Amino acid sequence: MGNTASTTKGADDFYEFKEWGKPELAIVPGDLLVSLTYSPYEYIVIKKEFEKKAPRGGENKWDIPREEFSMDQIIGAGNFGKVYKGKMNGKVIAIKISKGGQMSTKEFLAEAEIMKKCQHENLVELLGICTDQKQIFIISEFMSNGSLLDYMKTKKSLQLDAMIGIAAQIANGMAFLESKRIVHRDLAARNVLIGKDKIAKVADFGLARLLPSDQNVYTSRGSGFPIKWTAPEGFRGEFTTKSDVWSFGIVVIEIMNKGREPYPGIANGEILQKLESGYRQPKPENCPQELYDAVISCWQENPTRRPSFASLYATLRSMQIV
Ligand SMILES: Nc1ncnc2c1ncn2[C@@H]1O[C@H](COP(=O)(O)OP(=O)(O)O)[C@@H](O)[C@H]1O
Ligand SMILES: [Mg+2]
Repeated sequence: MGNTASTTKGADDFYEFKEWGKPELAIVPGDLLVSLTYSPYEYIVIKKEFEKKAPRGGENKWDIPREEFSMDQIIGAGNFGKVYKGKMNGKVIAIKISKGGQMSTKEFLAEAEIMKKCQHENLVELLGICTDQKQIFIISEFMSNGSLLDYMKTKKSLQLDAMIGIAAQIANGMAFLESKRIVHRDLAARNVLIGKDKIAKVADFGLARLLPSDQNVYTSRGSGFPIKWTAPEGFRGEFTTKSDVWSFGIVVIEIMNKGREPYPGIANGEILQKLESGYRQPKPENCPQELYDAVISCWQENPTRRPSFASLYATLRSMQIV
């Protein structure tokens, strides 16, 4: 590219780029581009909104005023709230809104707090938080191909290598959480998002928790958890990174089975007993033995015998045809 357009503050809220060049090649300082037009003159005009340009610093750097973003159509409704597609400074965004009532403000803000710590290429990126009198809005990057679950259901022709690639990216994102002592507790295909070029990012930190500094387990007295994705110890309220590893094994099978629900034909109420008797989901037909072996290692009854996400990532990477 090498386009070193210099900027000068023009009249009102315009920047003038004193150089020829295609608009898409212009190097734009800051990320608050609103619109870009190629003028008939020898410069490119970029409309700026100056008050937004001021760098947000310190504590308030995540705060977004309500008028800075639009909410267009609804794209998802999970257990805890609604998700909309919208726009902020010309960029497409996703906005998650607390339902109110069912979930306390404190819990919803805790989700955003965790997301602030999750800056990694395979974790969905928080862009900001907006609070008004009634609601809280969590603003994140928009992932154009939606949830992995929907993606797998519609992309029937996905190659094995692409499936392993998606699983490897999830393991990579989870390895980051592992290193930050964050347990996710809701890892499932519905909570992984797919962007362009089969980029996969772990999302939905609604149940995620930071582990206490003195122990590797988060104990929960709450009753709501995703039965078919939860490790046996989770039924007793014990959650660790190793219970996320268990869920990861379930996700790999979801991928290989093109988004089919885990343990088809088995009711939630029967799962724990089945698992305790040693039952595990069988190998999907198209699943290489090596991959299934990795999955089975995630489903060791003893959590300490399950692999780390870091090693799962290495294992999956080594299986990819590069
Ligand atoms: N950043 C995003 N980009 C695209 N789709 C999203 C995004 N965030 C959420 N969604 C959609 O909304 C659904 C629910 O979002 P999620 O964060 O899992 O909420 P909940 O806590 O209610 O389950 C997802 O399964 C996905 O389809
Ligand atoms: Mg969800």
